[in-house]
Amino acid sequence: MSSAVEPPAPSPTRARRERTPHPAPQTIAVVGFGNFGQFLGATFAAQGHRVVGCSRGDYADAAAAIGCEYVRDANALLDTKPDVVVLCTSIMSLSSVLARFPVDRLAGRLVVDVLSVKEYPKGMLLEVLPESADILCTHPMFGPESANVSWAGLPFVYDVVRLNSAPRVHVIGKQRCETFLDIWRLEGCTMVEMECRVHDEYAASTQFITHTTGRMLAELDVKTTPINTRGYESLLGVVDNTTKDSFDLYYGLYRYNANARAVLDKLETGLSALRAKLEAAERDERSKQ
Ligand SMILES: NC(=O)c1ccc[n+]([C@@H]2O[C@H](COP(=O)([O-])OP(=O)(O)OC[C@H]3O[C@@H](n4cnc5c(N)ncnc54)[C@H](OP(=O)(O)O)[C@@H]3O)[C@@H](O)[C@H]2O)c1
Repeated sequence: MSSAVEPPAPSPTRARRERTPHPAPQTIAVVGFGNFGQFLGATFAAQGHRVVGCSRGDYADAAAAIGCEYVRDANALLDTKPDVVVLCTSIMSLSSVLARFPVDRLAGRLVVDVLSVKEYPKGMLLEVLPESADILCTHPMFGPESANVSWAGLPFVYDVVRLNSAPRVHVIGKQRCETFLDIWRLEGCTMVEMECRVHDEYAASTQFITHTTGRMLAELDVKTTPINTRGYESLLGVVDNTTKDSFDLYYGLYRYNANARAVLDKLETGLSALRAKLEAAERDERSKQ
C-alpha cells in the first residue's frame, strides 16, 4: 500500500468548471493572484481566455489547477503581450504594486482594476499610467464566498474611465473593452455602469455596513445554538462571509472610501439612539406603574 499523501482536492471555488466559451478569447494578465485573483482567473480560463497570473506568492500549482499560467515577474507577465491587465491586489498595496510595476509597458493596453473601492484606483491609474493606456474601473459585487457556483444575476459595476481618443485606436480600444465586458455578460451578471464616485457612496452604505456588522458580531463571538431563528442564521452567515475576507480588504474599504467614516459614525449614533429609545420606554412604563 502506498504511503504517499494525496494532494488536497481543489476547493469547489477553484475547481475547473464548464463555462460558455467566449467568442473572442483574450490574453488576460492578472496582477495579484491571491484569493480573488484565482477566483476570477478560474472563470476567465474556463471561458477559453489565456490567463497569466502574477503575484508575490508562489501560486504556480494553484494556477495550473484552474487552467491558468503563472509567472513571478511583471516583465515576464507583460512579455505574454496581454490584451488586458487586471489589477487584483489588495486595496492597501495598490500604490506600492504600481510603484514597482513597469507601468510604461502598459502603453496601448486595457488596464482594469477590480478593487472594492473605486475613486481611489481611478485617481491613481489616471495619475501613473501612460496616456495611451485605456482604463476600466470595475467592482464585481461578489466573491468566492458569495458566488462559488454561479455569477448569474449578481451585479458587476463598471466605469469606462478612459479610452484612447486617437480615431482608429479608439475603435479598437472600445472593441477590446466590450470584449472584456462580454466575459461578465456571458456569466449572466447584472451589468451596472456607474461612476466611481457614485459607487463609493452606495458601497459605504451597503458593503461597508455589511462588513462592519459581520466583524462587530464576530467580536462578540456569536455562535450557533440549538434554537437558531432564520434571522439569526442570516446573521451567522454574514459573520462567516465577511470574516473570510482578509482584514486588509476591510481596512481598505474604510481607509480608501471617503464615505466610510461617516457610516461608522452613523452606526454608533444609531445604536445610541436605539438604546435611548429602549431606556425611555422603560422609564415611561415604570412611571405608569
Ligand atoms: N474577495 C472578494 O470577494 C472581492 C470581491 C470584489 C473585489 N475584491 C477586490 O479584489 C482584490 C483582491 O482581494 P482578495 O480577496 O484576494 O484579498 P486582499 O487581501 O484584498 O488582496 C490579496 C491580494 O493582494 C496581494 N497583496 C497584498 N499585499 C501586497 C503587497 N504588499 N504587495 C503586493 N501584493 C500584495 C496578494 O498577493 P500575494 O498573495 O502574492 O501576497 C493577493 O494577491 C482587492 O482589491 C479586493 O478589494 C475582492
